[in-house]
Amino acid sequence: MCGIVGVLGRHQAAPILVDALRRLEYRGYDSAGIATVEGGRLDRRRSPGKLVNLNDLLVHDPLSGTAGIGHTRWATHGAPTTMNAHPHARGRVAVVHNGIIENYRALRTFLESRQIVPETETDTETVAMLCNWYLDQGHDPVAAAKATVADLTGAYALCFLFEGEEDLLVAARKGSPLAIGWGEGEMYVGSDALALAPMTDQITYLEEGDIAVVTRAGAHFFDADQAPVERPRKTVTLDPGAIDKAGHRHFMAKEIAEQPEVLSHALTYYLDPCDGRRQLEAELDFSGIDRIVMVACGTASLACFVSKYWFEQIAGLPVEVDIASEFRYREPPLNARTLALFVSQSGETADTLAALRYCRGRAGKIVSIVNAAESSIARESDLALPILAGPEIGVASTKAFSCQLVVLAAMALQAARQTGTIDAGEDSRLSGLLRQVPGQVSAALALAPRVQAVSAQLARHADVLFLGRGPFYPIALEGALKLKEISYIHAEGYAAGELKHGPIALIDEEMPVVVLAPSGPLFDKVLSNIQEVLARAGKVVLVSDAEGLAAAGEGLWQTIEMPAIEGPFAAIAYVVPMQQLAYHTAVEKGTDVDQPRNLAKSVTVE
Ligand code: F6R
Repeated sequence: MCGIVGVLGRHQAAPILVDALRRLEYRGYDSAGIATVEGGRLDRRRSPGKLVNLNDLLVHDPLSGTAGIGHTRWATHGAPTTMNAHPHARGRVAVVHNGIIENYRALRTFLESRQIVPETETDTETVAMLCNWYLDQGHDPVAAAKATVADLTGAYALCFLFEGEEDLLVAARKGSPLAIGWGEGEMYVGSDALALAPMTDQITYLEEGDIAVVTRAGAHFFDADQAPVERPRKTVTLDPGAIDKAGHRHFMAKEIAEQPEVLSHALTYYLDPCDGRRQLEAELDFSGIDRIVMVACGTASLACFVSKYWFEQIAGLPVEVDIASEFRYREPPLNARTLALFVSQSGETADTLAALRYCRGRAGKIVSIVNAAESSIARESDLALPILAGPEIGVASTKAFSCQLVVLAAMALQAARQTGTIDAGEDSRLSGLLRQVPGQVSAALALAPRVQAVSAQLARHADVLFLGRGPFYPIALEGALKLKEISYIHAEGYAAGELKHGPIALIDEEMPVVVLAPSGPLFDKVLSNIQEVLARAGKVVLVSDAEGLAAAGEGLWQTIEMPAIEGPFAAIAYVVPMQQLAYHTAVEKGTDVDQPRNLAKSVTVE
């Protein structure tokens, strides 16, 4: 949610800043801007809309200087206009910000009483106004930035650039991630290591409350009490090529296609005698656990929901799944026998992080499942389990979701071994079934032409329902979420058995109903629900295997034939047609698949 970057370089900063912002654009794309200082003078360029607009502006109106800051925005306070775009500047300082300054109204009142009036609708401008006020009081730039940060409440990653200071950036972190990059006679600041990947692999992550004073010679760190502190420098292995589309039209298409490979990695890591398996065995003792509380947002919460079926049915462990924005304020009772589990691709989702902090000292153990190993959620957990999906750039989560599912499945098996609900034979049978998932996902990917044909039909409708039972119910929810977020078609997911308790009133000849129903013990139940839809002239899209499709008989509007899949993990492969339905429907409608309107990849505000 907003990406920030800073550079103290040897070459022109503007192209470096824009290039880094391109890698941060997944964090928000409502507006973009950069500021540089040259000949002592601060100047900036800002543009509403995507980064390409800023790029165009810079072609006509370039900005020179080797020191600069940049920002790509997901609007919180104020419309996505040029005026509200970052960097915000006042007097002798410019600032970029990711987060929310909660006390900005109080700070504005203070400043207005000194005849310093805002020019924008943003909370961030207050930071620039306040810092400039401290400069006017005689503080030097570092002292002014530190004093400003001390006055702020809320969440922020900030980077300050000062008039007359071509070798200084001040960076501060509280609640939003921030990385300092070390180059050869150059230094960088970025929201994440990915932004800095082509420039350096030497990264220092700021801790909560840290301030970094950065010059070309290096960085000095100060902790939340503003005392000098050492922060380690790490070598981060990130392939900048990982953020190429690799010949695909969209990142989302690439990430859907990558699933067999990343799922294989994750499964090897957690099922073979690798670090993941050892970590699970050594650091998770389910025998002392009464219940698992899983907390996440959006798609990640649906991964939790699917795994509830596995933990309860295979390991006999009760699971409660909650969305973080509700959990955090409900004050749910926890105890030492509760395992609190947080699932987050970014590892920075503000509500999930807040929920985790609520559990600290209340739950027995805090475990997270993350894609970003250096994220706040990972670092604040007792045990952080990586999903090994690699960078996910498309705003709609795809490969991270399926990787979360296999890690949760591997955990459920570990829990079952420890609680003794499965013997060695059953363990090896279930592990064998889980190892088949990448192959099943490959087979599901091969159905793309058929799914595309169905999507062309779906794209003509304004509403779509998704139905499923058991673990296919949360997959139906995920199908609806994916479709609405990238194609803007209104979609809802329901447990198939709930249909007659209300949603059936929506069914008419205009309503497509996507039903996920492999053959198996629940198939006949779902078939009854399908009949109820057909009886009301609804358009059923049945996603099932050959046996299920044959049993469903006549009257279906569309079918997608999945391979026959045995066992409890079948739901994982069924997510692929859901992802592809959403993708091809969005392409058919011509929406912006990778950067759908109003969304951002990493939701670091409440
Ligand atoms: C939907 C999607 C979101 C995220 C949610 C949580 O496609 O990606 O619903 O799943 O914002 O994000 P993380 O996993 O980063 O905590």
